[in-house]
Amino acid sequence: MVREQLDRIGVVGAGTMGSGIAQVAAANGYEVVMRDIETEYVENGFDTIDDSLGRLESRGDLEEEPATIRDRIEGTTLLDDLGDCDLVVEAALEELAVKRDVFADLERVCDEDIVLATNTSTLSITSIASDLERPERVIGLHFMNPVPVMEGVEVVVGEKTTDAVTDLAHDLAADLGKTTWEADDKPGFVTNRILMPWINEGIRAYDEGVASKEDIDAGMELGTNVPMGPLTLADHIGLDVCLHASETLHEELGDRYKPAYLLKRKVEAGDLGKKTGRGFYEYE
Ligand SMILES: NC(=O)c1ccc[n+]([C@@H]2O[C@H](COP(=O)([O-])OP(=O)(O)OC[C@H]3O[C@@H](n4cnc5c(N)ncnc54)[C@H](O)[C@@H]3O)[C@@H](O)[C@H]2O)c1
Repeated sequence: MVREQLDRIGVVGAGTMGSGIAQVAAANGYEVVMRDIETEYVENGFDTIDDSLGRLESRGDLEEEPATIRDRIEGTTLLDDLGDCDLVVEAALEELAVKRDVFADLERVCDEDIVLATNTSTLSITSIASDLERPERVIGLHFMNPVPVMEGVEVVVGEKTTDAVTDLAHDLAADLGKTTWEADDKPGFVTNRILMPWINEGIRAYDEGVASKEDIDAGMELGTNVPMGPLTLADHIGLDVCLHASETLHEELGDRYKPAYLLKRKVEAGDLGKKTGRGFYEYE
């Protein structure tokens, strides 16, 4: 059903999430246009995709050759190249002003019946769509990191989002091999409303000397059966992404969401986690 409506998927942003979404869409047979603002960022996105496809192939988890999948992805810096997409997923920076600009651009270049999805972690779907002529076609399609590995996708329904758009979002995620749940457009939705205070508390526990970073992570992994402790997970997500998410939640929900001091300091120092080679831990 979804295949009759969607053939070509646009992705805005070729970072951690955008490259993952592009890869998963291409691996499931969709034509993909992946757009970032600089050629270098597009190339970085392809490097991430090549690494991921290589790993999946070596584990026997790919049904096609990596090159076949990669060839379905067109990289670009041109906004107009998104114009012939049947649905666009935005995965740019977690800043409301940036996302509003991106959606205003998309409204200009995309046909008026094209669904515009955002991968935002915490920002309001309604607010992202509020200046648009057709806010009813905007929805949250919140993929998890790393996209090729994580099964879950959170569908976030804005104030104006129609049922048809919501159904299409669930159907697309299912067609990409994902399992969805639905959240109302409340700050942080289900996942980050609960995850961000957990990460910040882990960072505060470390900063206040409760335990070493390794023991904080081990305590949560072994003691509560999560696959990754809070400091390792923060490094994987990106400390800037965690800080932006925490700041939005703090603004919307009050002091219990205040970002940890050490999280801010690490971001100011440019230590953003795995993607820069250093966060709470060091990476190759
Ligand atoms: N990292 C995670 O674990 C995670 C998980 C779920 C959701 N998200 C959300 O996904 C989104 C992207 O996060 P990320 O971790 O991939 O960030 P990232 O910093 O890795 O990548 C963002 C990319 O967007 C590009 N960009 C910025 N403005 C743009 C524009 N106008 N047009 C096109 N590209 C633009 C940047 O150049 C960058 O390459 C954010 O909204 C974030 O909150 C992140």
